[in-house]
Amino acid sequence: MKIAVLPGDGIGPEIVAQAVKVIKAMNIGAEMEEAPIGGAGYEAAGDPLPAATLKLAKEADAVLLGAVGDWKYDTLPRDMRPERGLLRIRKELNLFANLRPAVLYPELASASTLKPEVVSGLDIMIVRELTGDIYFGQPRGISTLENGEREGINTMRYNESEIRRIGRVAFDIAMKRNKKVCSVDKANVLETTELWRQVMIELAKEYPQVELTHMYVDNAAMQLVRAPKQFDVMVTGNIFGDILSDEASMLTGSIGMLPSASLDENNKGMYEPSHGSAPDIAGKNIANPLATILSVAMMLRYTFNMAAQADRLEQAVGRVLAKGVRTADIYTEGTTKVSCSEMGDAVVAAL
Ligand code: IPM
Ligand code: MG
Repeated sequence: MKIAVLPGDGIGPEIVAQAVKVIKAMNIGAEMEEAPIGGAGYEAAGDPLPAATLKLAKEADAVLLGAVGDWKYDTLPRDMRPERGLLRIRKELNLFANLRPAVLYPELASASTLKPEVVSGLDIMIVRELTGDIYFGQPRGISTLENGEREGINTMRYNESEIRRIGRVAFDIAMKRNKKVCSVDKANVLETTELWRQVMIELAKEYPQVELTHMYVDNAAMQLVRAPKQFDVMVTGNIFGDILSDEASMLTGSIGMLPSASLDENNKGMYEPSHGSAPDIAGKNIANPLATILSVAMMLRYTFNMAAQADRLEQAVGRVLAKGVRTADIYTEGTTKVSCSEMGDAVVAAL
C-alpha cells in the first residue's frame, strides 16, 4: 500500500501530520511519500501541481491531501493559483465521484447551530460529481466585448455517460444504506440538469429497490436546514455539490469534522477533509484534524478494503469525542479544549 501524502497550504501540513501519525500508529504497513501541491507546489516548482507530485499521485494506490489555497496567491495568473492544482489532480486522476458524508456524532449535537432534535441521528451521504459541470466546461474565460465592456463566461455541461456513472455510484451506495436517492438539479431552468434528471430516471429502472426522488437545488438548500433527516443519499453535479456539502457540514457541528473521498472507476482515491486551508488559523496548532483523520478511515474502507480497520479508527474518534476532548471549533462549555496535535495524540491513544 503506497500513499502519496500532499499536505498543501494553510492548515494542511498541521492536520495531515496528525493523520500521518494515526496511520503509523495503526501499523497497517502503509508506505508514505510526501510531495507539495497548491501554493506549496508553486513555491517549490513554479506549478500548483508539479510534475513530480502528479507522477507520485499516479503511482500511489491512494492520495491523502490536506488543503490548498492562501490569500497571498490570489493575484497569481489563474493557472498558477493553488485551486488549479487541486482541480487538475482531480481531473488527471479521473476522480469523478466525490463522497461527502455528513454524520453527526451524538456528542456534538449541541455544537451544531441547529436544534439538537433537528440534527440528532443525522447520516447523509452527498455524492458530488467532481470532474465535469461548470467547473471544467468550455468555453470559459474573461474577455472584452466590442463595446469595451468585459464579459465573464463559464459553461455548464454534462454528457449522458458522465451523469450515468455518477448516478451508478449513488445508487450502489444507497443499496448498502437506506435505499433512498435524492437527485438534486435545477431542471426547471437549466437544460444540462434537465438531461441529468432524465438520465437518473432511466438509471433508476436498474435499481427497482431504490426509491429515487428529485429536488430543485434551491429547495434542497432549504430542506437541508429545515428537515435534514429526510435525506439518505443525495446525488448532484459539481457546483451544486460544492455548495450543498458545505451547508450539510454545518449540520454536524463543524466543517472540521467532515471527511471526503474522491474515487475513480477502480476505487483508487484521493482523500481529503471537506474544508479548506483556513489561512487565518494556519500555524497556530488550533485546527481540527478529525476531518483528515476520518478521511483516512474512508481510505481504508474504499481503496484498501480494510473495513474492520476503518471501523476501528472511526470508533477511536468516537471515544475521543465521548471523553469530551474538543478542538476550538467544536468546543462547548464543560468539555476540554485541546490543540490540533493534542487531538491527534488523543486519537492515537484511543487506538
Ligand atoms: C471543495 C473546494 C474546492 C472546490 C475549491 C478549493 C477548488 O471548495 O473541495 O469543495 O470548489 O471543489
Ligand atoms: Mg467547496
